[in-house]
Amino acid sequence: MSYENDARIISDDIFDLVNECFSHERSSRNNESRLNFFDTYNDYFVLTDDGSYSINSREINNKVETLHTSTGAISESFEKFIKPMKFDYTKDIAILDICAGLGYNTSAAIDDFMKNSGESHLQIDMVEISKATFACGLLVPSPIPAHDITRKAIEDELIAQDYASLSLEETEIPENIDINVYIEDARQTVQRLEDNTYDAIFLDPFSQNMAPELFSVEFFKEFRRVIKDDGIVATYTSSAPVRAGFIEAGFYIGLGPIFGRKQGGTLASPNPLMLDYALPRNDEVRIALSDVGIPFRDPGLNNSSDFILDERTEERHNARHNTKISSAVKTPIFLGVEMDDEKLKRRVERNLAKMNIPSTTSSEAKYIVEVEDDYSQEQDEKNNSTERILEMKKRLKKVKMGN
Ligand SMILES: C[S@@+](CC[C@H](N)C(=O)[O-])C[C@H]1O[C@@H](n2cnc3c(N)ncnc32)[C@H](O)[C@@H]1O
Repeated sequence: MSYENDARIISDDIFDLVNECFSHERSSRNNESRLNFFDTYNDYFVLTDDGSYSINSREINNKVETLHTSTGAISESFEKFIKPMKFDYTKDIAILDICAGLGYNTSAAIDDFMKNSGESHLQIDMVEISKATFACGLLVPSPIPAHDITRKAIEDELIAQDYASLSLEETEIPENIDINVYIEDARQTVQRLEDNTYDAIFLDPFSQNMAPELFSVEFFKEFRRVIKDDGIVATYTSSAPVRAGFIEAGFYIGLGPIFGRKQGGTLASPNPLMLDYALPRNDEVRIALSDVGIPFRDPGLNNSSDFILDERTEERHNARHNTKISSAVKTPIFLGVEMDDEKLKRRVERNLAKMNIPSTTSSEAKYIVEVEDDYSQEQDEKNNSTERILEMKKRLKKVKMGN
């Protein structure tokens, strides 16, 4: 229970109501509290633009996030997590669904599998820290029929863990689908999973400031171990430290779909050929050269969110003007660029001078970003975001060392 208490999960109001509902079910063995829950408390659910429901998170540092985008909770699952996968449904498929929440991503995967597969088998391992959040998945109206299959698997596990007591979900799980449900900190689960198992990993935590522990290099190294060589990790965020973390953990990265946000998410794979699109050029430059590209670290996979955030702040501070160009005023994106704005130019060049780069158009500046001359949106084995980022990092180091 202590992980659940500390983690960033659903808002306290609905958390208490859901716990009460299931506590009543356990003591009375009466199905009414569950069956009436949504109608009684539908104000606590957030209706999104495609008609599917979401919930708000617990308030952390005066911020509340919704579990899904307001543009459409179930649509987000298809757009961000299913469409970028290149599933070959002639073969068996295994998916790891991290931060499974209401079970929408799993349900979208089941829907896609049932529509496109023939004889093959689907295994989905869902991981969610909070019983109450999983229980909410049994209380919202199912956004698609496949959600009823997911609900059955969640209900079975909640009964096994003595949280629910009645078997109310009637839909059977098809024989060619196995759903394993883990209710614990995903950092613990991944360490027990077998090497080289998954075709896809869905990574859907709250934002990096709420849950940096689910975006750390060490967590991603576990992904690298359990994913197949052609597997793909999908996550909605375009954050520089997250992308840098994937590279440090041994992944190639590419641009994910844009849905309900201005920027595309992130895809990561051991195989660059699985990733069609490069990151925007300026994102590559900032990840490679500035302190925003310092990833989250969680050695031991057991540190608190606040500790991980503080440690990163300190690492950024130490790296700035030392191994990384300052991220202030987006300095690195002006390398190789003629600047008209004299005031901004002075600030940029003050930051560059500390890294032995005399000006934005000096030979040193041009040498570092020369690799971007080959930039193209389509990626291939050699010409891709990851190779360019690693090469720019190397060049910056050489320039700083004076050779
Ligand atoms: C953005 S929501 C996920 C929505 C979900 N993918 C869906 O389809 O409904 C983030 C979820 O992460 C869960 N969570 C938070 N910390 C966790 C952890 N350490 N391990 C596993 N799940 C965690 C929260 O309880 C919350 O349900």
